Amino acid sequence: MSEQLALITGACGEIGQALVQELAAKGGYRIVTSDIAPLPESIKKLSAEHVQGDLVYKVKTFYDYDFDIIFHLAASLSSKAEIATEEAHRINVEGTMQLLMLAAYRSEKYNKSIKFLFPSSIAAYGMPSLAEKQRAGAVKEDEWNMPHTMYGCNKLYCEKLGLYYSKYQGQKHLDETPPAMLDFRAIRFPGLISAFTLPSGGTSDYGPEMLHAAAQDKAYSCFVREDTKISFMAMPDAIKSLLVLMDVPRENLSYTVYNIAAFAITAEEFRQRALKAFPDAQITFDSNPRRQGIVDSWPEDVDDSLARAEWNWNPDYDVDRFFDDYFLPEIRKRYGK
Ligand code: SER
Repeated sequence: MSEQLALITGACGEIGQALVQELAAKGGYRIVTSDIAPLPESIKKLSAEHVQGDLVYKVKTFYDYDFDIIFHLAASLSSKAEIATEEAHRINVEGTMQLLMLAAYRSEKYNKSIKFLFPSSIAAYGMPSLAEKQRAGAVKEDEWNMPHTMYGCNKLYCEKLGLYYSKYQGQKHLDETPPAMLDFRAIRFPGLISAFTLPSGGTSDYGPEMLHAAAQDKAYSCFVREDTKISFMAMPDAIKSLLVLMDVPRENLSYTVYNIAAFAITAEEFRQRALKAFPDAQITFDSNPRRQGIVDSWPEDVDDSLARAEWNWNPDYDVDRFFDDYFLPEIRKRYGK
């Protein structure tokens, strides 16, 4: 079979870098990347072409590309988005809208359903209080869709835009054979942790920041309370989920948006795990009200039974395997500990 053409936006981000590597390793794809930044050396050779610049303005250059699949990862994450709301809206919503319009246009014009993979987030949820957060436990996709953050509002709305362009645009096909529409698939990711990269601008960042600091003997002041609990996942599982969902036949999917989960732990449990691996780690807690408010509005955990049922989702890394088989061995290699 000939190569498929894939676009990965936000290729320099954490998910982006890992996805470029895994998609290249999988084979069969010519990968076009885009980002506001130049590609890091580690993935330069894996990209056939890198389009650098602001996606909102760069999308027009993609109208001539015969993409089979688009991974639209470019985004301003939750803490940053809360400081620069208008910019976040432009990047997160306008950028997504431009790319969805391109994919919808090309899908219809060339009668080819372009796949559009979109990372949504636990930020799409909004819990009204800590008591309700504890009571709710693992939430389902259609519960508590009342985000408190600009980033969460952006993600939830873009999920709806994806559904619109993949199903309803033009409103003309309820009683007639639909034209080829783009094939939109979204995953609501928990906080992601990579042993190779660090996040920036997010709010689940305290997890990876604490672990990377501990592994380097750097003191870390955690910006949320000890009891703060949300769902986390190893980066390889996040990449696996995108690659698995990408290949699922459309007829097996009855939704466009899926939760996935791996392990839900508190900030104090992170500290205990860090101390067990690096006994000299200095980790203190100094809750930042703004960032605390963001994480408190996110659910403790998510119910991923839909993904498990419809596309056999199953993470490779539970909390023990995450530390013992992935994070600690890799981080020790990286920092020589
Ligand atoms: N990890 C992201 C953030 O903290 C949420 O998707 O912003």
